[in-house]
Amino acid sequence: MAIVPYKKSSLPITWRIAISIVIASIVINAISSASLIYINYKEEEKQFVYHVDEIQASHMTSLANALWHFDNKQIRVQGEGIYNLYFIGYVRISSDDNTLYERGEVSRNPENDHFMIPIQQNDRLIGELEVGFARDRILKDIIYSAQKMILMQLVAGFLLALLLFWRVHRIITRHLIDLNKQISIQKESSEHQFLTLDREIYNDELSAVVDSFNQLTEEINDELIKKETAQKALAETNNKLEQRVEERTKNLQVAIDELNDTLENLRNAQSQLIESEKLSSLGGMVAGVAHEINTPIGLCITTHSFIKDLFKDMRIRFDSGQISKNNFTEFMQNMEESVDILSKNLERAANLIQSFKHVSEDQAGEALRKFNLNDYLHEINSTLNPKLKTTLHKVKITCPEDIELEGFPGALSQVITNLVMNSLLHGFEDIKQGKITIKAEQQKNTIVIVYSDDGKGLSSESQAKIFEPFYTTKRGYGGTGLGMHLVYNLVSQTMQGTIQLQEADKGCTFLITIPAKVKEIEAPNES
Ligand SMILES: Nc1ncnc2c1ncn2[C@@H]1O[C@H](COP(=O)(O)OP(=O)(O)OP(=O)(O)O)[C@@H](O)[C@H]1O
Ligand SMILES: [Mg+2]
Repeated sequence: MAIVPYKKSSLPITWRIAISIVIASIVINAISSASLIYINYKEEEKQFVYHVDEIQASHMTSLANALWHFDNKQIRVQGEGIYNLYFIGYVRISSDDNTLYERGEVSRNPENDHFMIPIQQNDRLIGELEVGFARDRILKDIIYSAQKMILMQLVAGFLLALLLFWRVHRIITRHLIDLNKQISIQKESSEHQFLTLDREIYNDELSAVVDSFNQLTEEINDELIKKETAQKALAETNNKLEQRVEERTKNLQVAIDELNDTLENLRNAQSQLIESEKLSSLGGMVAGVAHEINTPIGLCITTHSFIKDLFKDMRIRFDSGQISKNNFTEFMQNMEESVDILSKNLERAANLIQSFKHVSEDQAGEALRKFNLNDYLHEINSTLNPKLKTTLHKVKITCPEDIELEGFPGALSQVITNLVMNSLLHGFEDIKQGKITIKAEQQKNTIVIVYSDDGKGLSSESQAKIFEPFYTTKRGYGGTGLGMHLVYNLVSQTMQGTIQLQEADKGCTFLITIPAKVKEIEAPNES
């Protein structure tokens, strides 16, 4: 409920009561006095008519006699007697239009205020008596007495107001002021004590208010005690809780520290594994290349021993002087063929070593350099040939010859190698003649490489988890589940691009986008 602000300018209750009474008494006095003046005035008018009758009854006989005997003295005495009557303001005694006696003022309203009384003697009209109503004087008298009455009533009203002022103050106001003081002291000290009235015990409204207030105070005090008890209990519980939380936090911290250590160990293990994964692919490549080089070098050795034999035979013939033209022609022919075989195989071996050198240097050293994408994709392919040659699977590279990249070719090689190895190991698990296509094209500053195989494809679980570290369907059969994670990190971090698995009708397809020129930020970190 909203509290209406207290108006400081309001008069105290006692003053307001006293002023109300004074005003009320003035108004009541004014109304009653006006009514009284009016009633008295009307009464006096009636009285005038009644007195005119009386004059007729008491004065007319003696006045007729005085008139009959022309007794002027008696006429004047009679006239004075009538004039002195209270209601009479004008008297005129006349005979045959001769004024014998006249006193007073003619009224302003002679038609209503004047009476003509005939004076008769022996049934003969001998004169007239005219009497006038003393209206002004009577009105003045009535007003005067009303004024006195009003004054007295005002004094009485004022005294009554004073008495009331004093009584109201004694009975009500001073107690209210005292109660207010007690409440203010309680408010300031925030103690809740009972209110008391400084007077004898009465069973009135003030006592009822004080009793109700005290009941309320008692209830508030009870509530406060309950609140205090509850607060203490709460504080205690809080304390206990804080202690418990502190204990748990400590335990949790220990657990977190242990977990952090474990996590750190795991990270180390993971990077070691990734490192060894890289090296293992390099190792695999070394074995493959060694096997590959074995053939041309073997052929060279065979050819070399053949040449050696030819040369030895020729020497013997030369020393014994038995060289015929035929012998020499045959020797030259054999030599030409052998040298041809030698140079072809040496060239083949040199090419293989060159490719391997490029790729392995890039993989180990991660050098940033410019390279031609088409050439490099073919170089990667030739390092994979030893693996592919043992199968019927085919790799088809479609790439414009003029795409020049500035980036980390070693990372690209690792990515393609891993993808191809996965296609061979997983995609073509039960397939004899699989087909891998690597399509590359340049779109402004971006290179888009679409790698796809037509193998068995990925399950929905593999689709969701393929880039997660340690996800493999070949656990226990040589798979670590780090290959695709490494591919993801190489593409997104080292090559600053993206790799996504694409929906395909058959097999699986990866969409790789990389910038044609990587930004040089810091030393690349492929793990
Ligand atoms: N081309 C693909 N066709 C079908 N399944 C694939 C293909 N590539 C990857 N997978 C699936 O994704 C999984 C994860 O591949 P990933 O290369 O990360 O691990 P891995 O090949 O099993 O082990 P490794 O760490 O030796 O590479 C594979 O186990 C395989 O189930
Ligand atoms: Mg793999």
